[in-house]
Amino acid sequence: MCGIVGYIGKKQAAPILLDGLKKLEYRGYDSAGIALITPAGNIDIAKAKGKLDVLVEMTDGGKKIKGTCGIGHTRWATHGEPSENNAHPHCNDEKTIAAVHNGIIENYAELKEKLVRRGYEFYSQTDTEVATKLVDYYYKKYGEPLRAISEFALHVRGSYALAVMFKDCPDTIFAIRKDSPMIVGVAGGDSFIASDVPAILKYTKSVYYVDNLQIARLEKGGVTFFNLDREEVSKEIVEITWDAEAAEKGGYEHFMLKEIHEQPKVVKDTLNCVCHNGELDFSEVGLSDEDFTKINGITIVGCGSAYHVGVVMQYVTEDLARVPVRVEIASEFRYRNPVLNGELVIAISQSGETADTLAAVKAAKENGLKTLAIVNVVGSSIAREADYVFYTKAGPEISVATTKAYSAQLVAGYAFAIKLAYLRGKIDKNCYAELLKQLFALPDKIEVLLNSKEQIQKFAAKTMDKKDVFFIGRGADYAVSIEGSLKLKEISYIHSEAYAAGELKHGTISLIEDGTLVLGILTQKDLAEKTLSNLFETSTRGAIIAGIASESVKLPATGLDFVFRIPDVDEHFAPSLAVIPLQFFAYYLSVLRGNDVDKPRNLAKSVTVE
Ligand code: AGP
Repeated sequence: MCGIVGYIGKKQAAPILLDGLKKLEYRGYDSAGIALITPAGNIDIAKAKGKLDVLVEMTDGGKKIKGTCGIGHTRWATHGEPSENNAHPHCNDEKTIAAVHNGIIENYAELKEKLVRRGYEFYSQTDTEVATKLVDYYYKKYGEPLRAISEFALHVRGSYALAVMFKDCPDTIFAIRKDSPMIVGVAGGDSFIASDVPAILKYTKSVYYVDNLQIARLEKGGVTFFNLDREEVSKEIVEITWDAEAAEKGGYEHFMLKEIHEQPKVVKDTLNCVCHNGELDFSEVGLSDEDFTKINGITIVGCGSAYHVGVVMQYVTEDLARVPVRVEIASEFRYRNPVLNGELVIAISQSGETADTLAAVKAAKENGLKTLAIVNVVGSSIAREADYVFYTKAGPEISVATTKAYSAQLVAGYAFAIKLAYLRGKIDKNCYAELLKQLFALPDKIEVLLNSKEQIQKFAAKTMDKKDVFFIGRGADYAVSIEGSLKLKEISYIHSEAYAAGELKHGTISLIEDGTLVLGILTQKDLAEKTLSNLFETSTRGAIIAGIASESVKLPATGLDFVFRIPDVDEHFAPSLAVIPLQFFAYYLSVLRGNDVDKPRNLAKSVTVE
């Protein structure tokens, strides 16, 4: 939701902070700021509305603000509109304390009232200014930073990754987290803090994942961790396995285009995590064969595209394994008071930090259920909360619109479904082997689609003036249509709806008028003909109709305004192919409309607040 960074060491901090914020811009980019403790021992703050480049220009790349200890922030506004006033870092009135924060202080209003009664005034609309002045209040009361921060944690509700500097401690950064991501990196006496690995990967691969309610004290020469009782705690260092280059564009115009092209590799790498010598083995995930046999029901939770993966997984798992599968939007599941009786809860999340999905996992565990996380970011909050973890091997996904992580999650779900079906005796050894063969054919078939993107690019160019686009499908094709619709909305800003093809007639078809674009997904042989009929029901009412169809799906010689063929594959896995042209369709429309493809308006890569 926002990105925080911090550095303390031998070098000038400002350029390092700005470089780190650049790598975190995908987390939020409506304003940014840095604070340093200057050589004179004062706290100097520079912040600006707009993208990070505004701040970089304002500080001449950090040259104008000196100091070897500093913190920085790039914002996705939650409390108070994007403005310089609301931008972080925030400080107390005497400018002896400065802080940056990612998360939401839920009881900030009552805390603000208490502070006002104690004489505090406020210059911004943010919860973070309240947090900063609360730390100031306890620092004035106890005179010790660790105590001030632990008292802060004991009095606030909500989520936070908070980094604080005190003028009285010029060579120290303090930090604490609860439910918002935070890592601490170390290298040769320098210490770093960040919301996510890409921000500091250029400087170190040795990181600590800060746990909930742990306090970190970063000093020149090293880092010390404490619990809320201010007792020192020891932590293991984790070595990051991917390199900084992986978090760069690699010659592509946008991260999204690069990540679309990485899909064959990440699909293969993810499958190879659980498939060895032709056998699916989930022991690294933590699931034994015996665990699988005990699964009598599944609830899948996720948000956005992760939820869409769950919809595909529901079709595939029920069809193959004959186990009841419910798929729920995490923000609904966590408050719906669902009836839970022994099912496995599967949480799907690229970032592993989505607040609603994390809360859904906690709710499941509170009900005594076992939880499996399918996540991409190692050491993320959801990964550490779940009982079992399937790490997808998508590598860092920078573009806000997910593509490669979505595809990696899909194949993780397919592998899970096949394993479950086989262990429940619903498929025999031959079927098991054939399904695995089909699964491992996906990377090459995705590669074929990557090489035929020009056709989609031309189609996008012809439809760039569309105001409404509909995606329809049945079964797994419906599951793909909801992902195609979201991709289009989130980066092209064109309104779109996905509909179960059979549902159009029950109201929405009234929206169809001359020129409305309707895309039908046609990969499920037994259902494609029905979806075709639904497409023609719209074209008789003026719609332009397009089909994304598997090679072997028979189509009429005329009537469709555009057809894009995808290679045949076992129908359970067709979503992995049908989604590729839809990703390109959204991408090219976003580019044609001059949008910021990788950082679309109003969005952030990881929604770590409710
Ligand atoms: C997908 O393109 C969006 N960026 C968004 O819907 C995303 O899938 C959703 O916020 C869930 O994120 P997560 O996978 O990190 O939990």
